[in-house]
Formats: sequence, C-alpha cells, structure tokens
Amino acid sequence: MSILKEVEQKLLVAFRGAEIPLTEVKLLRSNRPDLGDYQLNDAMKLAKVMHKNPHEIALTMVSVLEDSGYFSSVSIAGVGFINLTFKDEFLLSAMNRFFADPASSYDLVSKRKVFLDYGGANIAKTLHVGHLRPANIGESLKRLARHLGCDVISDVHFGDIGRQSGMVIYEIRERYPNLNYFSGKEEKEWDPLPITAKDLEEIYPVASTKAKENEKIMEEVRRITAELEALKAGYVALWDKIKQISIADIKSVYQRLHTDFDLWEGESDCYPYIPPMLERLQKEGYLVDSEGAKVIEVKEDTDIAPMPSLVVVKNDGATLYATRELATLDSRMKRFSPDEIWYVVDVRQELYFTQVFRAAYKTKIVPSSTKLLFLGFGTMNGSDGKPFKTRDGNAMSLKTLLDSVKEEIKTHMREEITGKERDDIAEKIMIAAVKYADILPNRTTDYIFEPSKFIDVDGKTGPYLLYATIRMKSLLAKAKKQSLSYQKMYEVEEEKEIILLLLQKAEVLTKAFELKELNIIAEYLYQLTSAYNRFYEKHYILREENQKRQESWLVLTKMVYDTNVELLTILGIEIPEKM
Ligand code: ARG
Repeated sequence: MSILKEVEQKLLVAFRGAEIPLTEVKLLRSNRPDLGDYQLNDAMKLAKVMHKNPHEIALTMVSVLEDSGYFSSVSIAGVGFINLTFKDEFLLSAMNRFFADPASSYDLVSKRKVFLDYGGANIAKTLHVGHLRPANIGESLKRLARHLGCDVISDVHFGDIGRQSGMVIYEIRERYPNLNYFSGKEEKEWDPLPITAKDLEEIYPVASTKAKENEKIMEEVRRITAELEALKAGYVALWDKIKQISIADIKSVYQRLHTDFDLWEGESDCYPYIPPMLERLQKEGYLVDSEGAKVIEVKEDTDIAPMPSLVVVKNDGATLYATRELATLDSRMKRFSPDEIWYVVDVRQELYFTQVFRAAYKTKIVPSSTKLLFLGFGTMNGSDGKPFKTRDGNAMSLKTLLDSVKEEIKTHMREEITGKERDDIAEKIMIAAVKYADILPNRTTDYIFEPSKFIDVDGKTGPYLLYATIRMKSLLAKAKKQSLSYQKMYEVEEEKEIILLLLQKAEVLTKAFELKELNIIAEYLYQLTSAYNRFYEKHYILREENQKRQESWLVLTKMVYDTNVELLTILGIEIPEKM
C-alpha cells in the first residue's frame, strides 16, 4: 500500500474514534504551499450530516490530526478548511521506505480481468495517422492496468473482412489475371504472390478510387466480397496470402510504437459464433423485422436523442459489421469471461457503441455484471484543424509520419553520434516525442500535429523528459555510491517539493486508471521532472562536500529517476543511453 494511503487509513480510524463519521479520508495537495502541504475540506460536508457548525467539527478534527504525529502544523482557515504540514521526519522516513520498497509507492486496484480492444488496424490497408492514438492510448492503458494488478488480455481486432477485401482482390486480378487464384477451381498448390507490403499501400487506394468512379467496378467488387465471404476457393487462398503480408507489415509499425497484443484476431474469427447467436436471438424474440432486415431495438424511455435500432441482418440476408461486433463479444465472453471490456476507439463512434452495448446486454450476450466501456479518443489533426491528408487526399501512412519526425530530430542531434547509433537514438527520441504529445492532451480532445513543438528539448515534451532522465542516470553512475540512505532534508524548498510529488505518485496512478486518463500521468511526469531540474540547477550534487548531504541528494535523484523510468514505461516510451 502507498504511504499516503496508509496515513489516510490511519487518520480515518482515528477520526471515527473521535466520532467524526467520515467514510474516507482524502488528503488534498494544497494550492497554497505557504499555508500547508495538504488540506482537508471535510468539515463543511460533515456539518450537514452532524448538524453542527463546520468550525466546531474542524476543531475536533484538528485535535485528532495533532495527535496523529504526522504533522508539524495543523491550522484552520476560513469556516473550516484544515491546512496540514508534514513533519520533516515523516517525509524522511517516507523517502527511505520508497527507496527500500517500491510497493510502498503505489496502490493496487481491486483485481479484475480486463479485455482491451484497441488498435483497429485493417488488413490490406497500411496503418495511417488515425491509428496512432488507439495504439498509444490502448497500449498505455494495458500497461497501467497490469501495473496496478489487473489481468489484461488485449486484442488488435483486425478489420479483415468487408469491402476492402473485394477491392484488393479485384485490383490484383486486373494486374495478374493469370494467377491460379482466379482459375475458379480448387488448386493443389497456389501460385506465389508477386506482391509486397509496399505494393499493398498503393493497391487499395487505386482500387478504391476506381470503384468509386465506376459503378460497374463497384458492382464487381461487391460480388467478389460476397464470394469471398461464401468461401470461394481461390479468393480465400489469395486473401490469406494478402493477410500474411499485411499483418507482418502492420506488426512492424506497432513494434516501433512498442505496442503489442496478446491476441491478433480479426473480425472474421467470430464467424463460427454468428449462426448459433442469430438462431438464439431469433428464437428468444430479440430480432424484429424492419423492411426485410432484422434489427435489435435499443431505444430506452429516458433517451432524449434519437436512438436507431441496430441492424444485424440485411434484407438480402447478409450480416454486417455490427453482427460481427456482437458475435465477437459472444466469443470473448465465452472464451475469457472478462469483468470489463474496454474499447479504445474514435469518439465519433460513440453512438454505434451505445447501440452495440445496449444490444449486448439486452440479448444477454453480455451479463450485466460485465462492464462494457467506451473509451473515445479525439483525432490528431493537421495545421488546418482537419484530419491529416496526403496531397492525393488519402490519410497519411503512419510510417511516413514517424519517419518525417525522425528526420527532423536527426537534424538537431549532436554531430558526434553517427551511423547506426544515430539512427537508433533518433528513433527512440522520435517515439518519445510523438507518444508524449499524443498522451498529453485530454483523451477525448483533438490536437494539432506540430512536430517542431513536440521535439523541443526545452518544452513540455518527450525529449525534455528523456534528456533529464538520462542526466539523472549519468549522475548516479558518476557518483558510484552503493548503499545510500536519505539522511536529512536540508531545508531546501525544492527538495521538499520533490518529496511531496513522489508521495503523490500513487494517487496519480490510481486516478489515471479510474478515469482512463493518461494525461494525468503525462502531466505528473512533467511536474516531477521540472521540480527535479530546478533542484539540479541550484545544487551541485557531485561537487557537494558534505557526505550526508550528497548521499541524500543522490537518493532523491535515484527516486526521481526510478519514477520516471516506471512512468515512461507505462506510456510505452524507452530511454536511450544518450542523446
Ligand atoms: N477496424 C475498425 C476501423 O477501422 C476499428 C475497430 C474498432 N474496434 C471494434 N471492436 N469495432 O474503423
């Protein structure tokens, strides 16, 4: 358990002993450091419950707080706000406990099994800039949930079926009509496919433009898509080969983003679940006929906005994206029975997911005890405020975007770093820049892609954090001290600020987890690092002659260093050896 939480729990017991009916004690960081480190504002709320005036309650609370032994000063401000200042000895012992036992620096959450759906890559289409946020946010949420003790299963949920498959097969047939995939027969051996991931990047947009411009081609694409879904031999074999090429390419980009999945499944993996699911829904009366189609009604009495029914079977009998969504849920519940399922998807899909969640609960595909969570994210836009486009109007490939930032970073790097090392370091700085900039805004808001801002080592950026963290590491290496302990706080204000921030880490992680808001961690990293930098600039740690003072400052440095490594790792950011 974290040290602050332990203090809060002990205070809770003491308050209840003094007949203060609190159910929870939450110490709040004070926004007036001149008055105290922390504050407690409960007296006002208690006044209503206890039918007493807040000042009187605050007086009782003060005596409990004074007796607790944690504080050097406890004072009442206004009608009943209580300001608290920790004793130096308490902060000292806290530092030494953090140092000896990392588990005292955070709180586990109640253990549960979380299934995480993020990524959303589509087969035969290369990852584009729109795939950056789900990868970063999803991966970090996965790491955070694991860090805090949850069982997490992640799935990329490939879009591996649908119109794009028909388009790509159509275009390959145009280019290589003699490949035996198009013979119409089951062949013993299928031809090698003369296509690379690079070709696929171009094939899909070309086919898509052709089909949009020519209704006959679109008709053909639809036919091919339907035949593939009906498992036509050559098409299935061809699509499998395309999948392999495409997945290898998609994985390589996810790898650059330090994003990994436990399951690399696709929409089509739910196919065996569709017929029995539809049969049950039909039998149990959940499917309603609507102009030849079958829908699930998901409207509720309390809705103020229109809530369309969810179509699950089209009037030609075909199934849709939503049908696969429900069957995928069915499969996930049956195979893993998670306590929660989190979807990290574009905020614009909120209505669709509301329909899906309601349909899933109503039809009992998902029991009410399993929590379905929609975690929407805003888009990364270009300087015109619109989603990124290349000159030809297509979404920019993610690889191109990452490489362009990397090139810009290389122009700023020190000359002495050359060759492969230069490239490796540039890659790590780029990932830190892009990821941090992506996590820093609120999850649901849009932000603008400004590479020169994201890579600024003096700004609120990933490279700033890397630079400071590398400097801490090299300081610790130069000091070459083994068993350290925190001896004394040398009445240095900057030092105290750092310790108070370290005490806060547990709360930051818990809150980020509860709200699924990683920007809380990103902000905290910046606060802690800049507090440390202020200290570092004022005090010459390596030149310090007083041994005890130097030792304490090294402990402080080590604690901030470890915290940065821990939190950067949660954000999926790796630290280079130098930069
Ligand atoms: N592949 C989808 C897309 O490109 C995103 C998938 C999101 N996840 C889901 N379970 N629907 O829009």
